[in-house]
Amino acid sequence: MNINEIKKRAIKEIKEAESLDDLENLRIKILGRKGELTQVLRSLKDLSLEKRKKLGSEANKAKKEISSILNEQKTRIESKEMGSGERIDVTAPGKKKLRGNLHPISHILKKTEDFFTSMSFEIVRGPDVETDYYNFDALNIPKDHPARDMWDTFWLKGFANKLLRTHTSPMQVRYMERKTPPFKIIVPGRTFRYEATDASHSHTFYQVEGLVVDRSINIANFKAVIKDFLKSIFGENVEMRIRPGYFPFTEPSFEIDMRQEGGDWLEILGAGMVHPNVFKAAGYIPREWQGFAFGVGIDRIVKLKYKIDDIRLLYSGDLRFLNQF
Ligand code: PHE
Repeated sequence: MNINEIKKRAIKEIKEAESLDDLENLRIKILGRKGELTQVLRSLKDLSLEKRKKLGSEANKAKKEISSILNEQKTRIESKEMGSGERIDVTAPGKKKLRGNLHPISHILKKTEDFFTSMSFEIVRGPDVETDYYNFDALNIPKDHPARDMWDTFWLKGFANKLLRTHTSPMQVRYMERKTPPFKIIVPGRTFRYEATDASHSHTFYQVEGLVVDRSINIANFKAVIKDFLKSIFGENVEMRIRPGYFPFTEPSFEIDMRQEGGDWLEILGAGMVHPNVFKAAGYIPREWQGFAFGVGIDRIVKLKYKIDDIRLLYSGDLRFLNQF
């Protein structure tokens, strides 16, 4: 076979090849150790110098040409094969990315903190484990005082006088011991009560305590702040009412209820003017200062805001529930 024929056939076959395997087989058949063209080159040694030169350069040219066509064809097939793997089906349904979101309690806590910081309140935090002194005695609830029954308490076994705080109020005295008025603080935090759990009770829940102390602070100041707070969460149309209440650490004491358009009244807050005995416990001279204090039940606010009827859902960790927020 002459070189031209070999070349022509090789090029035709290479162009018809459809897979990388086909190409590799062709390369071996033509350019391999026993390949057609290789054999032509080998047989040159028996020819005269002149013929050897002529045919030699022809054969080498053909070899180069065939190699480069082989390479071209190889890249073409490769990119075709890759393309088929990457083809995009634009009609396929999208995959939804999972995104985290704030727990509804965290969300309302954050909104509460944002509101009060915007009113220049300072945020302070206190310990979950308290002494009975700060949780009760310093708040004008001495041992054997019947009002202690208002707070069913988890006592810590093996630690005398230690308990899980039943409210955030212990921070009132802890803070006043260290600071001189005037000041405005809130104390967000977890609180605990030794209670049976049901749709509206949980042994663990959240409160935000508020305490404002200055030379002259009155109930009107308190009402204005709380009304604005409720509006910041529930909007302009929220209604609020004040009822007389009883807490040993405030005098007078109030209970605050709220309702949204058409809804039921729900108690969300205990409050009052700071009791002189509490100022005394903090080392203040009671006649010199006035203040109001309040404790908001954050879980109640969350239930109202998101229309959740069972508080236990908030602590269930159930993603079917949590993903709705
Ligand atoms: N600590 C009270 C409670 O948990 C609420 C409260 C706080 C009342 C501050 C008056 C003043 O029930």
